[in-house]
Amino acid sequence: MNTSRRTVMAAGLATGLVATSLGTAHAASGGTPTRTLFGTLDDGTPVHLWTVANGGIRLEVLSYGGIVHRLDVPDRHGHRANIALGFDNLADYVAKSPYFGALIGRYGNRIAAGRFTLDGHTYQLPLNDSANSLHGGTKGFDKHMWQVEPFTRRSGSGLVLSRISPDGEMGYPGTLKVQVTYTLTARGEWRIDYAATTDRATVINLTSHTYFNLAGEGSGPVHDHTLELAAARYTPVDAGLIPTGELARVSGTPFDFRRTKPIGRDIRQGHRQLVYAKGFDHNWVLDKGSTLDPAYALTLAEPHSGRVMRMYTTEPGMQFYSGNFLDGTLVGTSGRTYRQGDALCLEAQHFPDSPNHPAFPSTVLRPGETYRTSTVHAFSTR
Ligand code: BGC
Repeated sequence: MNTSRRTVMAAGLATGLVATSLGTAHAASGGTPTRTLFGTLDDGTPVHLWTVANGGIRLEVLSYGGIVHRLDVPDRHGHRANIALGFDNLADYVAKSPYFGALIGRYGNRIAAGRFTLDGHTYQLPLNDSANSLHGGTKGFDKHMWQVEPFTRRSGSGLVLSRISPDGEMGYPGTLKVQVTYTLTARGEWRIDYAATTDRATVINLTSHTYFNLAGEGSGPVHDHTLELAAARYTPVDAGLIPTGELARVSGTPFDFRRTKPIGRDIRQGHRQLVYAKGFDHNWVLDKGSTLDPAYALTLAEPHSGRVMRMYTTEPGMQFYSGNFLDGTLVGTSGRTYRQGDALCLEAQHFPDSPNHPAFPSTVLRPGETYRTSTVHAFSTR
């Protein structure tokens, strides 16, 4: 995407021109976020549930893991449903969650052999995904308490979540001060802004791991959702789901979502990459590259409810995971089991294993710099 187009997209976001506004159909619910007790951790720490409402959307967030517990979005008739997978109790989030709704850090997705070298030092991270390190290690940001401050501003209502990750946490260098802002705008957008600083050179790749089902959590497979993904290339993986380093063309493969198509159309093709991952679990190289302002990445739509979610991000990559490892053993928020393909994750981020691929966009953060990324989920109906 050239610069002038990018500027237009960014301006569109600022003025709310990018999606059919939900905010006009549903008078802004606005107001200050509210807090209730959700549960208590084994050590006695209370975990709060924060509720934010604006633009016809309602977001419920836990102070544990920054977890998006519910995301209520209207369909074309104005009926709201919870489109995010989760549990109805804290114990399940702590004991068995496959990162439902969680904030992921310090590093989204895999680092091969849990090892990387930076400025001549080699760092070893805990391995929690066979031979690799996944989503920040055994106790990533998804398993920590976050300090939460509510706000109501002109930009919308929301929450600022913060925590300090000590030097050496999960093997990563540097004291990392992290701030994540969830905002609901009056136009029916859920925006996430990430910021971080460090006191030693480190690597960082923060993302959000919401499992979406636009027909409603627990309603069955997402294979008839349609997806348009503005990416001509993706990063193929080995059998351990580590990128080979190649930026392969999607053309002529099941990975081509440049023209919108149902998620299930090609998911059963005997393509080696789909066999490795049991479906889609890959990083798409967004055509727009890294951008200063969130730029268009994808459109997800569900035909029966008419719900549409467009995503805009500053990030260069999009991990599209088709819920391949859901196996019917987890009972979700409304008491129904989650089976393979009952949701999908769209994780805007840098590429997996970037610290071991110098040709990938850099994930290095140095003292004096501020890490800033933003992702917008714009909801509408058709
Ligand atoms: C990864 C999957 C993993 C899932 C959750 C996704 O981001 O790409 O491989 O199974 O997270 O556990």
